[in-house]
Amino acid sequence: MNVFDAIRTRRSIRKYLNKPVEREKLSKILEAARLSPSAANRQPWRFIVVTDQKIKEELRAAYDEDWFVSAPVIIVGCALPSEAWVRSDGEEYWKVDLAIAMQNLILEAWELGLGTCWIGAFREDEVKRILGIPDEVRVVALASLGYPAEEKGSVTKRKPLEEIVSYNYW
Ligand SMILES: Cc1cc2nc3c(=O)[nH]c(=O)nc-3n(C[C@H](O)[C@H](O)[C@H](O)COP(=O)(O)O)c2cc1C
Repeated sequence: MNVFDAIRTRRSIRKYLNKPVEREKLSKILEAARLSPSAANRQPWRFIVVTDQKIKEELRAAYDEDWFVSAPVIIVGCALPSEAWVRSDGEEYWKVDLAIAMQNLILEAWELGLGTCWIGAFREDEVKRILGIPDEVRVVALASLGYPAEEKGSVTKRKPLEEIVSYNYW
């Protein structure tokens, strides 16, 4: 699968087979995150891989969905703002860095036949409490991960290029 095919066919998966994700696949997915670019190459990220069913159940307090808890793996994408690059006008880049790494991880998972769903609507305070994440760390994204138990077509519902691209000027 080439990069464009992965981008074109990837969909958010919210139903998973009750089948564990192999260690080698998990390592490769995390390697895709590790190799990601970041502003000034600061790599201000940490990833927590949750596989323990008891902890996943606890995470309901942060995001209460059966499909989320039933995913074999939950990846928690964390940022250390103190390690990240800050533009001269004060704009902080840790969220951008984490988003890039999470997307690489998601695309690599798809290439390996695994589905994910990016979750943004979680309660950060609960994730931090349950997983013992230090105060200064921010949780940017959760991603459920596992073998898909649903088939979805390629990406269709997107704005047309004419609506989102302009040349030279706004
Ligand atoms: C930043 C971000 C946050 C998201 N948060 C959630 C979420 O909290 N719950 C959920 O079910 N899906 C979430 N999604 C998945 C989107 O709903 C999904 O990507 C979008 O509808 C397009 O569908 P597709 O991924 O199948 O192409 C999120 C996606 C992104 C990129």
